[in-house]
Amino acid sequence: MNNFIAYNPTRLHFGKGVVNTMSKHIDQKHKKVLLMYGKGSVTKNGSYNDTIGQLKKLNLEITEFSGIKPNPLASDVDSAAKLGIENKIDIIVALGGGSVIDSAKITAICIKNKLAAWDVMKGKARFESAIPLIAVLTLAATGTEMNPVAVLQNQDTKEKIGFGHPAVFPQHSFLDPVYTQSVPANYTAYGIVDLIAHSMEAYFGKGDASLSDKFVYAILHEAMEFGPALMKDLNNYELRANIMWAATNALNGITGHGRITGDWGVHGIGHILSFLYDTPHGASLSIVYPAWLKKMKERMPERIEEFGKAVFGVNSPDKTIEALESLFKKLNSPINLQEQGIGKDKFDEILNLMNKNNANGFAHKLDDTDRKEILEFMYGK
Ligand code: NZQ
Ligand code: ZN
Repeated sequence: MNNFIAYNPTRLHFGKGVVNTMSKHIDQKHKKVLLMYGKGSVTKNGSYNDTIGQLKKLNLEITEFSGIKPNPLASDVDSAAKLGIENKIDIIVALGGGSVIDSAKITAICIKNKLAAWDVMKGKARFESAIPLIAVLTLAATGTEMNPVAVLQNQDTKEKIGFGHPAVFPQHSFLDPVYTQSVPANYTAYGIVDLIAHSMEAYFGKGDASLSDKFVYAILHEAMEFGPALMKDLNNYELRANIMWAATNALNGITGHGRITGDWGVHGIGHILSFLYDTPHGASLSIVYPAWLKKMKERMPERIEEFGKAVFGVNSPDKTIEALESLFKKLNSPINLQEQGIGKDKFDEILNLMNKNNANGFAHKLDDTDRKEILEFMYGK
């Protein structure tokens, strides 16, 4: 087991109606809040009204920044930061899914330190702190509600990358499963795929971490037990609650302690698809993961077999990959590019950007030949 520090300062409030306690937890010293959200789903599931009600209770001056798109843009963060600086914002409330909360995290840094978003994302900026961030989660998927990571894309440089800093753990996160009942079937599925993928990115990293491996198995068993059932019963509160809590734990640190690193190569390739075709994040992962495993089985057959035995009760790398594909099929998430409407005519465009951006893992290095083979598997070779 490798040395590690277990640190997570986010106070997470989980359950029905928790947003109604928000006003008790926001320090009275705050006067001006920036409320950030997406394209409007929050006005349809009660989360917007509940949140505004709490902010009004505190007599906070509210400035709104809406319209954040899935696979969010650094340029939008720069606009939000400019608005925040002009209005002397001293706290941010992010209301939505991962795209909104990630945008809010980088906005919190840019307002406090008068920085450009992409300088932060590329690690070019020096800073110590950010303005405080409160998250109200409306989509179970990324785990951003309880981690210090954000992912943005830059249309000019053609990149979609992640950045992490302890200053952007949300101070409080409010997770009411009721808000997720309005998530449509496709994004419900993509969120379940994302939590599965986060667990696997940790597992297929480097280093021996027995308890972290068992946390991975437990989270995956939750996804298998509740995911397909939820797809048939989207309004079911208990199913929504179990998936929401599993998604948080898939990327709040507990699956990583004791490892040298996770891999994250599948995410690196998935981000290329999201950048090029706005592919929903989870859909990109259900396409890439089986393909990546088909390539990796020549390098680590035992690790894949160990995973298959513990998670699916199967005893070969091929059967493990088949079991994962059938789980993704049960969730109705695509397992090849054609299912996502991305034809072979895009092969070179995808491969060129994969190579230009050096889509890679931390534990399992990929070269251009490896990436070409994985892309062929993504087309169902
Ligand atoms: O914009 P609105 O109208 O809110 O619609 C959103 C959006 O169209 C909709 N939605 C969200 N909550 C809803 C809802 N629709 C109905 N009812 C609700 N309750 O869902 C769509 C997708 O929202 P988005 O925030 O993009 O989804 P998700 O939460 O999956 O976030 C994906 C983003 O997170 C990044 C991804 O790269 C992607 O950019 N990730 C962040 C990570 C992190 N910070 O730790 C790790 C992940 O690996 C991931 O990379
Ligand atoms: Zn992800």
